[in-house]
Amino acid sequence: MWRPPQKIKWKPKPGTWPSREQADASRLFSPLQRGPLALATRTWVPAMVPWRATEDGFVTQDNIDWYARFAAGRPGAVVLEATGIRDVPSGPLLRIGHDRFVPGLRRVVDAVREASGGETKLFIQLIDFLAIRRRPEPAKYFGRHLVVTERHRDALGLADAPEAAVRAALLALPDERLPEVLDASELEALRMGARERVTDVELPHVRELPRVLPDLFADAARRAREAGFDGVELHYAHAYTMASFLSARNTRDDGYGGSRENRARLPLEVLERVRSTVGNDYVVGCRYLSEDCIDGGSTVDDAIHFGVAFAKAGMDFLSLSRGGKFDDAKQPAIGASAYPYTGPSGYECMPAHVSDERGPFGRNFEPSARIRRAIRAAGLTTPVVVTGGVHGFEQAEALLASERADVVGFARASLADPDWFMKVRTGHGDAVAMCIYANYCEALDERHEEVTCQLWDRTALDEPGVRKTKDGKRRLTPPAWVAPD
Ligand SMILES: Cc1cc2nc3c(=O)[nH]c(=O)nc-3n(C[C@H](O)[C@H](O)[C@H](O)COP(=O)(O)O)c2cc1C
Repeated sequence: MWRPPQKIKWKPKPGTWPSREQADASRLFSPLQRGPLALATRTWVPAMVPWRATEDGFVTQDNIDWYARFAAGRPGAVVLEATGIRDVPSGPLLRIGHDRFVPGLRRVVDAVREASGGETKLFIQLIDFLAIRRRPEPAKYFGRHLVVTERHRDALGLADAPEAAVRAALLALPDERLPEVLDASELEALRMGARERVTDVELPHVRELPRVLPDLFADAARRAREAGFDGVELHYAHAYTMASFLSARNTRDDGYGGSRENRARLPLEVLERVRSTVGNDYVVGCRYLSEDCIDGGSTVDDAIHFGVAFAKAGMDFLSLSRGGKFDDAKQPAIGASAYPYTGPSGYECMPAHVSDERGPFGRNFEPSARIRRAIRAAGLTTPVVVTGGVHGFEQAEALLASERADVVGFARASLADPDWFMKVRTGHGDAVAMCIYANYCEALDERHEEVTCQLWDRTALDEPGVRKTKDGKRRLTPPAWVAPD
């Protein structure tokens, strides 16, 4: 992961924990009701991919245990990890692109209901993404993948040479001379792995995205309702298709790019189709970015425009994240694919303890506050979920008291201790196992390995019935917490 050059080390400072009575009287543990969205408390576990699905995208017992473990801490809501809306192979990521995925997903719903005594609401994050290839071996790229054209021949002065000679000359060319011969997308394919963009309108399936995505999202939302989820979160954030439509880097000229209105068109059309499929009594919200955090990307002012438009169009909640883009990602190793959390924008999404003067805690607060204020100024009451470095009760309470958020997201803090909510609520805050923001979990995610936390994954490994990672070295869920009284 990228680190800010200042390399200032930060430690979480949770501050004072409340007594049970103080927690009872707090904003954080007060209910929220708006339209179909009804939360017992204003605590929220945002989507986190734990890499526990089968290769075919089905739910496993490990997925079920994972979500039941979060639910035992009784947050107001849990959002199930990014789940693919297409029926195409996408490795061990959950899918909802066909009815055959519904029974497995229903088992997660049932487990969450049971573990939380029906208190925790369960939403599912619906994602679409475009193709990305692994970074190739140069010999393979020049030997096979690259389509040799006149442009390459001219640049190399090999007009009449056989193709094999052109390929060999390209492979022998020093790295710094490659930009003289390859265009930007060829260079990217070689150095990072080829990646489709929403602006690749010369590709028929990319040009057609506005025609196909509303139905794909709507069918997925119908299945989510059938599986018993309390609602859906449309994934309009980070490096994926819908966020790329919203991005200021989207220059499509077919009415779906360019101006803010045009960039928001497809996300609004998706919402409309989803809404007409699941009805007004079902929760439909989205996650999107308060800022892209890349050169030429969307700014907070763009996000204000989108937030007001989404709220007006009837989103039931807006969950704000930031950054997490491919555009500034680190070069992957040969044979690996780029990961959107390795550059400066990735740092903004999941800031680690080595940081700059601003530190890793609350970088999303002020941008989110501006977006929420604009939504309220437009006369709309849509709840805003704010996430990013929240770990303390006082910090969360202050965020709500200052009206910068309506609901508080705890991602890594709840991964470190899914009982955070139960402990703090019952006056046992001093028993919280505090996330150290070392991004051990994020590194596992990058390697597509089962996500765990270093605070608990080697604890009581010989406990009867404990399920472990494939290599047998780490436990998959933290030990249960037993309240002292
Ligand atoms: C292991 C891991 C997986 C994640 N997967 C997702 C995901 O599927 N969808 C999503 O919107 N965000 C995902 N995130 C981002 C988190 O939801 C959250 O926005 C981020 O960690 C910052 O919040 P925090 O400081 O409370 O951890 C993931 C984060 C981690 C650590």
